[in-house]
Amino acid sequence: MAIEIKATGKAVPSQRISNDDLALRIDTSDEWIRSHTGIGSRYIADEDTACSDLGVLAAREALNLAIERGVVGEKTTGELVLTVDLIVLATATQDYYSHPATSCIIQHSIGAKNAAAMDITVACSGFIYALETAAALLNADRRRKRALVIGAEVLSRITNWEDRESCVLFGDGAGAILLEKTEDSGRGVANRGLIRTILGADGSGWEYLIVQRGGSRHPWKKGEVVDVPPSIAMNGHAVYNFAVGIITETIDRLIKEENLNLNDLAWIIPHQANARIVQAAGKRLKIPEDKFYLNMEEYANTSSASIPICMDELNRSGRLKKGDLILTVGFGGGLTYGGNLIRW
Ligand code: UT7
Repeated sequence: MAIEIKATGKAVPSQRISNDDLALRIDTSDEWIRSHTGIGSRYIADEDTACSDLGVLAAREALNLAIERGVVGEKTTGELVLTVDLIVLATATQDYYSHPATSCIIQHSIGAKNAAAMDITVACSGFIYALETAAALLNADRRRKRALVIGAEVLSRITNWEDRESCVLFGDGAGAILLEKTEDSGRGVANRGLIRTILGADGSGWEYLIVQRGGSRHPWKKGEVVDVPPSIAMNGHAVYNFAVGIITETIDRLIKEENLNLNDLAWIIPHQANARIVQAAGKRLKIPEDKFYLNMEEYANTSSASIPICMDELNRSGRLKKGDLILTVGFGGGLTYGGNLIRW
């Protein structure tokens, strides 16, 4: 059996905020943001848009593309959506605190009546974890065949807009893929689909990227005046150092442990946090910059949506060919990290 990506989709809000726009509100500049991060703009959701809204749009795009390209047996999106057995949503910005899982709201909105639904919360590594989770659950039961894996974020809701070090980094968006279990013979670098995943965590860095208030450690108290919404606090230097080291190590391990050459890879799709992090890892491994697909200049860091948004752009623009080998790699709060090796 192989776990193949059949189609992709993405959704970003319509409101684009450039670095210059931000510089009108906080003490920063286009020059600083570009030179320190590679980010040029970000898209921000309006007040009425929550995580599930973006997730629904991205999921529908993926289902529609599967029909348009004729890569599934079904003739309409309505028929196809009923064959989805599982929805795994990676997000750090659920519609509601604790429950329901936001994936259940997406399941209802798109009419995936036969799908189980679950959320995964491992911050920016979310999509890498969600893909492996969905693949494992498809493999675990012969009756399960298809899954939607979605990364969707409305990070603007948990951004501290007064903290210039972190607020310039984040944006909103969603990406989705349609996974299918096919009859290809097993996992291995010669086969199609998901070949191998590395997942990991270093919980000693749990304080480096954190939303402090609202959980069971620091709950809101009756009568408390809440004038600052829960927001991300970040130790930028600690996260930066962790990211460079772990991205380097994960790419190196995936290549070496699968006996691959750098030339075997069509693309490396890193989490789009900071171009300097990617460049530093690339330099250590002597990987040319054009091997990495980067779009943070346009979208900034959309956390668990960043990798599937990249996949969708590559896929729709024809820059991913059947048989191409791609490697995803990412890191995030937790601290968590991981990477997937995929034959397209
Ligand atoms: O998905 C994971 C999310 N988080 C990350 O990926 C964060 C990883 N870390 C980073 O990307 C980098 O550490 C940052 C981009 C956050 C910071 O870049 P840096 O090169 O490490 O800058 P810095 O913190 O050393 O700050 C240098 C200077 C400071 O001024 P002084 O003390 O030298 O006068 C900062 O106050 O830049 C200042 N600064 C800014 N200036 C203009 C910090 N943020 C800004 C800003 N605009 N937005």
